[in-house]
Amino acid sequence: MFGRFGFALEKEFTKMAYLKPQRPEKVTAPSLRASKERGERLVCLTAYDYPTARVVDEAGIDIILVGDSLGNVVLGYGNTIPVTVDEIVAHTRAVRRGVHRALLVADMPYGSYHTSADDAVRVALRLVKEGGAEAVKLEGGKKRAPLVKRLVEEEIAVMGHIGLTPQSVNKLGGYRVQGKTAETARALIEDARALEEAGAFAIVLEVVPREIAKIITESISIPTIGIGAGVHCDVQVLVLHDMLGMTFEKTARFVRQYVNLRETMTEAISRFAEDVRTGVYPAEAESYGLPAEAAAELHIETANKDSKINKS
Ligand code: KIV
Repeated sequence: MFGRFGFALEKEFTKMAYLKPQRPEKVTAPSLRASKERGERLVCLTAYDYPTARVVDEAGIDIILVGDSLGNVVLGYGNTIPVTVDEIVAHTRAVRRGVHRALLVADMPYGSYHTSADDAVRVALRLVKEGGAEAVKLEGGKKRAPLVKRLVEEEIAVMGHIGLTPQSVNKLGGYRVQGKTAETARALIEDARALEEAGAFAIVLEVVPREIAKIITESISIPTIGIGAGVHCDVQVLVLHDMLGMTFEKTARFVRQYVNLRETMTEAISRFAEDVRTGVYPAEAESYGLPAEAAAELHIETANKDSKINKS
């Protein structure tokens, strides 16, 4: 049955047949469309550094986004406007080292694709070549379609992002649900179709009515990635720090917080401080003793057992 590839292949096949893979195959931009066709519900989270990226990837999350939410949750800017290309590149490089299975997407920050298509191509190439991203994401619908087409022509996989686009916060005057009137809802549906036609492989729908997200999801063949867009999207995404409770502001209603990491960290840090202040930390077992020989030569009294046994 295995012909000239023989024993090694047969062994591999047997292993594959009997072992349910712990971590299914690598997620790619094209594989997402196939997942949608099979009706699979996929998961996306943000990550900004090596340890969190590794945890997220090992937990089996399908898409990891180095979002420009970096500006809000890691860099403390208050919004995404000041985030620079250099910052996204640096964080993407760190995330890259922790990700093996998930599709790694990097955000194009505000200002990096607004001056010209050539500038945008240069930035996207940096995210891919220097950062190690497998795809880039940019905000905007119909008006960005020519740029998406150009990037795809340059072999760059592009994720769209419509609805609430945080880079437009100054123009929008705040963060509000988008597509609430028939006219703006129609515009969103057109935006999604234009992005698909331009070659985007997926589209983030941020804070739009679930009914509109459903229409969009059913009317395009690429996956929709919902955040505050209801259950009908093909993929759901949250900002990692929001769902882990590592935030300092009130979160939006669509955020489900699975753990209060801020509280857990505060408690651990306070216990450490208390132990230091009361002399409970470090204990003898958490420090190193002088070997007996050296102690004798230096005429140092060593009461601890360590001096006899600890060679390190
Ligand atoms: O920057 C980001 O984290 C995002 C997601 C919320 C989709 O754009």
